[in-house]
Amino acid sequence: MRLRFVDKQWQQGQRMVIYGAVFLIMTLLILYSSNSSNELYSPFRDKDFHHAVKHTNLKKWAGKEGYLPVYGNKSMTLHCHRCALVTSSSHVLGTQAGEEIDRTECVIRMNDAPTSGYESDVGNRTSVRIVAHSSVFRVVRKPAEFLNRSESPAIIFWGPSSKIGRDAKGTLYRLIHRVSMTFSNLAFFVVSPSKMLKFDTLFQKETGQDRKKSQSWLSTGWFTMVIAIEMCDNIKVYGMVPPSHCGKHPQPKRMPYHYYKPRGPDECITYLQNERGRRGSHHRFITEKQVFARWAKMYNITYTNPTW
Ligand SMILES: *[C@@H]1O[C@H](CO)[C@@H](O)[C@H](O)[C@H]1NC(C)=O
Ligand SMILES: *[C@@H]1O[C@H](CO)[C@@H](O)[C@H](O)[C@H]1NC(C)=O
Ligand SMILES: *[C@@H]1O[C@H](CO)[C@@H](O)[C@H](O)[C@H]1NC(C)=O
Ligand SMILES: *[C@@H]1O[C@H](CO)[C@@H](O)[C@H](O)[C@H]1NC(C)=O
Repeated sequence: MRLRFVDKQWQQGQRMVIYGAVFLIMTLLILYSSNSSNELYSPFRDKDFHHAVKHTNLKKWAGKEGYLPVYGNKSMTLHCHRCALVTSSSHVLGTQAGEEIDRTECVIRMNDAPTSGYESDVGNRTSVRIVAHSSVFRVVRKPAEFLNRSESPAIIFWGPSSKIGRDAKGTLYRLIHRVSMTFSNLAFFVVSPSKMLKFDTLFQKETGQDRKKSQSWLSTGWFTMVIAIEMCDNIKVYGMVPPSHCGKHPQPKRMPYHYYKPRGPDECITYLQNERGRRGSHHRFITEKQVFARWAKMYNITYTNPTW
């Protein structure tokens, strides 16, 4: 009897040890996975990442009907064999790439990135400009720089349809409409509401991350890269850093986020803060670049200054 009692106690003790071990392993696993989900450069563990990703053929995904003319009935039919995508990063400064950029069939720029004063590094032609709803004012405020040029660019505005949609009839839409009547030599488009949803779905498919649930916004860079892939057979990107750049040790030296704002925020600080941000309207710049790295192989994209 006694022996059995001891035996039972021993068994119970053994069970406790096993429970304890299981508990410890579970705790470690939870800690480990929450740690790795805080990781900066890959918000997902590699395994999950590859499972969640579904590739989309962007050449088939494209549709000209996704761009609505603001005035008149122009259609977005631009197709180029070679494109230069000039980013707004200060990595373009000092590159002397201006002449090469200007020799490219189509030149794509973003938001209110100017050419005046920076021609030797960024060139002076613009074929298409992609503008965020939040940058509309900065663009229309300087018509001589952005709208009244000898080469009239197409301008594509992206944003929530509640702000820039044709049915919105809000201040922003009325402003875009008035400007497009004034500068009728330019072609102004807004990304249609259904195309906006497609951009979200594409982000989710390519990253496994729900844009809205992760409380982030797509960046103008995301829209610009996708639109460039739609319209160009070959793309050379100027001034975009690779996804791993800001995680290097020692940390890269301070570089302004925008080439035209030398006293503006630092590029890596901006990228890292946005990538970490869990509340509010953050951009997932680094996650986006991980996707751009994959797209490079599929769509004839090369990166220069720096090269990837
Ligand atoms: C639409 O385009 C056609 C030619 O493609 C033209 O005849 C017509 O006047 C245009 N309508 C408007 C409102 O611009
Ligand atoms: C800019 O434009 C002018 C003509 O409009 C041209 O002569 C010049 O070479 C262009 N490129 C640069 C890099 O300034
Ligand atoms: C565009 O620029 C020319 C001079 O280069 C000027 O005469 C014209 O008034 C401008 N147009 C608008 C709508 O500002
Ligand atoms: C890549 O470039 C080549 C040569 O310009 C072209 O024939 C091919 O269609 C391009 N591929 C894609 C996916 O655009």
